[in-house]
Amino acid sequence: MRPVLNPLVLSLKESATLAINARAKELRRQGANIVHFGFGQSPFPVPEVIQQALAENTDKKDYLPTQGLPELCEAVAAFYNNEFGYSFLPSNVCVGPGSKELIFEIIYLTEGPLIIPAPSWVSYGPQAALRGKAIITVPTKRENNYRLTAEELDNACYNSGQGQKLLVFNNPNNPTGALYHEKEVKELAEICRAYQVIVISDEIYAMIDYDQQAMSSLAVHYPEGTIVSGGLSKSFAAGGYRLGVVLIPDSLEMVMASLRSVASETFSAVSAPIQYAALKAYGDFETVRPFVKKTTDIYHYVMHYLHARFIKMGLNCPKPAGAFYQFPDFDNYRAPLAKKGVITSASLAHALLTENSVAVLPGSDFYLPTTNLGVRVAGVDFDGQHALDTWPGSDHVTKEYFREAFPKIIQGCECIAAFLNQFM
Ligand SMILES: Cc1ncc(COP(=O)(O)O)c(C=O)c1O
Repeated sequence: MRPVLNPLVLSLKESATLAINARAKELRRQGANIVHFGFGQSPFPVPEVIQQALAENTDKKDYLPTQGLPELCEAVAAFYNNEFGYSFLPSNVCVGPGSKELIFEIIYLTEGPLIIPAPSWVSYGPQAALRGKAIITVPTKRENNYRLTAEELDNACYNSGQGQKLLVFNNPNNPTGALYHEKEVKELAEICRAYQVIVISDEIYAMIDYDQQAMSSLAVHYPEGTIVSGGLSKSFAAGGYRLGVVLIPDSLEMVMASLRSVASETFSAVSAPIQYAALKAYGDFETVRPFVKKTTDIYHYVMHYLHARFIKMGLNCPKPAGAFYQFPDFDNYRAPLAKKGVITSASLAHALLTENSVAVLPGSDFYLPTTNLGVRVAGVDFDGQHALDTWPGSDHVTKEYFREAFPKIIQGCECIAAFLNQFM
């Protein structure tokens, strides 16, 4: 049979992150000693109190309200208001099977093009394409740590003409680890307000902020037009639980009403036991806070170790301030790489994996031109349980301890250095 498929689906390939994960796993299965800097998953175990809450609620079998368990919506609003100074009500919260799905549904039910700062997370573009929505990519500058400026946003909004537009704004950022500070966010808020932009503020990494609460959000400076998304996947280490949240202000009540309808006709409601587990995470956050703090300290240390090594190798790389990614570029090696036939980030990522056994994602998957030689490094190839059990605190990390607890992080640096050594 030759089924006729939706043409919007035909152009879609497998998500780049999931594809590199499958490839690295397959190479490992075949016995290759791969360093996996390709997949952005928390290496830590789900905090025990959350696991326990899940175990205690396996009897919860009834469908829950589409928007979510009312106590959970209350806990989520309180969590965001307390931690970040937002002003959401429980009725502003919608729970879904991962923030990825919720972001897609918001893209689906709103009109207008989607503005994507480049580099940005791999899935926003394909989600917009699935809806037949136009994408406006806005290149950001390495010198500005790949942070979108008010001027860049202003130009993009102006050039896109009249009519509603959406902006997806990821802070802290995947793939760069960049974090926006108050002054920049205030300036961006002014532009958003002037053009009445609907913002999806993707804050899935909000708690992984190395300096603790230095992050500033459009939900504070442009609350009337900002939808916040988040969930259990990153700071709570529970990506596989598939629970995400969005917080939609009253001023966008029509978006919430439509989301409720779309959700009720698609996923109906998130699994009830998972919602009770999430209630523990958000509703009793003080029991989880030490875990979030400790894991953030570990990410901070590991990411700054990687950053220092990359700078020593002669790569250009803004220092990450949050999440667990960074974005080194190999521009300084462009000429010798070209002699080898490596002129795109995709061929660079391929060479790093096949010649030196390091999996990274090419910058072209993050909306950059193919010849930009940036790659995304996810610094999470370590045994999270072991790190959590043995972490001595950032001030007490010895060389011996680091080598014992984070061998793949060191191996990854050595592999990239060996790759570059061929050009010396
Ligand atoms: C920037 C960003 N947003 C959203 C997500 C989706 O998270 P989830 O669907 O697990 O909530 C991810 C996951 O990798 C991400 O990196």
